[in-house]
Amino acid sequence: MVTTIEIDEGRHKQAVANLKEAGLRHYVDARLTDAHELVRQLKGPFDFVFSDADKEWYKNYFVDVYPKLKIGGCFTAHNVSMRRGRGGGIREFLDHLESVPHLETTINTDSRSGISISYKGPLEKKPDTK
Ligand SMILES: C[S@@+](CC[C@H](N)C(=O)[O-])C[C@H]1O[C@@H](n2cnc3c(N)ncnc32)[C@H](O)[C@@H]1O
Repeated sequence: MVTTIEIDEGRHKQAVANLKEAGLRHYVDARLTDAHELVRQLKGPFDFVFSDADKEWYKNYFVDVYPKLKIGGCFTAHNVSMRRGRGGGIREFLDHLESVPHLETTINTDSRSGISISYKGPLEKKPDTK
C-alpha cells in the first residue's frame, strides 16, 4: 500500500481522479491533510519514501520517518540541487543526512532539480567471516 499526503484540496481531488482513471485507487491511501502532523503519526514500517512537499520541512520529515524506515529501505527527496541558489532548508537537510550513521546517500542529477536517494544500512556491522 502507498500512502500519499496532500494539503491542497484541489490537488488531492485531482490525484484521486488520476488514480481512479489509472485503476490504481485501491493501492493508494491518499490523505488530505498537513504532512507535518501526519508523517509523525503514521506507524510504518516503510520500504520507500518520496518527499516532494515543503523543502524547509525536509529535515523534519526525515527525522520523523527514519525510525520507521526498514533496514534496506530508501528515503528520497526531490529538488535538493543547490545549483539554482536553493536554500530554504535543503542545506540543513543534506547536512543532516550526512550526519546519520548507517545511511548511504547519493544525489541523482539526471534531472537538474536533483533527487537525494538515501539507503538505510544495517545498524550493526556484520561480523568478519574469515
Ligand atoms: C512540488 S508539488 C508535488 C506534487 C506531487 N508530488 C506531484 O508530483 O504532482 C508539492 C506539493 O506539496 C504540497 N504540500 C506543501 N506543503 C504540504 C504539507 N505541509 N502537507 C501536505 N502537502 C503539502 C503542495 O500543496 C504541493 O501540491
